[in-house]
Amino acid sequence: MADRTLASDELIAALPKAELHLHIEGTLEPELMFALARRNRVDLPYPDVEGVRRAYVFEDLQSFLDLYYAGCRVLVTERDFYDLTAAYVARAVQQGVRHAEIFFDPQTHTERGIAFSTVVNGISGALADARHTEGFTSGLILCFLRDLSEDAAMATLDLALPHRDAIIAVGLDSAEIGNPPEKFRHVFERAKSEGFLTVAHAGEEGPPEYIWQALDLLHASRIDHGIRCLEDPRLVDRLARDQIPLTVCPLSNVKLRVFPTLEQHNLAELLGHGLRATINSDDPAYFGGYISDNYRQTARALTLTQVDVIELARNSFLASFLDEHDRQSHLETIDALATGSG
Ligand code: ADE
Ligand code: ZN
Repeated sequence: MADRTLASDELIAALPKAELHLHIEGTLEPELMFALARRNRVDLPYPDVEGVRRAYVFEDLQSFLDLYYAGCRVLVTERDFYDLTAAYVARAVQQGVRHAEIFFDPQTHTERGIAFSTVVNGISGALADARHTEGFTSGLILCFLRDLSEDAAMATLDLALPHRDAIIAVGLDSAEIGNPPEKFRHVFERAKSEGFLTVAHAGEEGPPEYIWQALDLLHASRIDHGIRCLEDPRLVDRLARDQIPLTVCPLSNVKLRVFPTLEQHNLAELLGHGLRATINSDDPAYFGGYISDNYRQTARALTLTQVDVIELARNSFLASFLDEHDRQSHLETIDALATGSG
């Protein structure tokens, strides 16, 4: 393969990809939001679908979270969570996703009186069906809301224990600044002792210190976002040495003004430092693109090569929680495509 050949849209579409940073509530497209609002008789503060899209201009993470949590009010029944997840899977499959490790925010729903089991059963039901019909594999990651207390996270972990077979890991999301990982060290310790893997959002808006805490206090296997790591050379050495995956979300970072433009995103630098960076869509219904859209637009903005996008797709499986056999099988498919694309 010619080393500096630019990545083509065809290669990006054809590459098998794992999606490792995807909030299922962030896949709620305005059309489905309106359909569920009608079904559940929930009032929406928008005149129509276009009005929803016009409202999606964000100043920062918090201004996005305010709309994201408001949108979640239309999700009420198990069927709603099933439909939401099935719609995501259909789009993901079209964009070459073969495996997804999916975040969900149970506290957003239990706080409104929705049962934990309603949420998990709806999402898991759609994922089980996707496995049978599409061969689409997946895992579920329960995220604790970091702007709430550690006690509230503990109570949520209690609710999760009867569903432990449906959940592979716990994570940490929501408003980052002022809510450091250390606030959740006890609940992560307990989750680990109960057999859950751990991941955490860190270094999206928050400082490199939060990434250190996610690694050393929460024992995170992956860092979600992590893009601020480049401010701390010692941290970059640690992430490179241990090949800790970073689940980077380029379109999200521009929409939430972490970077002014996609051209100024640091993804190419992260790869240049030997870090195990991956591309993901975060909240695609809010940020304007699913996974291949993220790959395509980022490749164009940063003039990524074929070698770069193949590395990103390989990284997504290397960073996943798949077993060795399935991981190797996806890597072999990528390697066969790589040999054929030069
Ligand atoms: N919840 C949904 N998307 C998020 C993000 N990008 N950061 C933190 N919490 C989130
Ligand atoms: Zn996220």
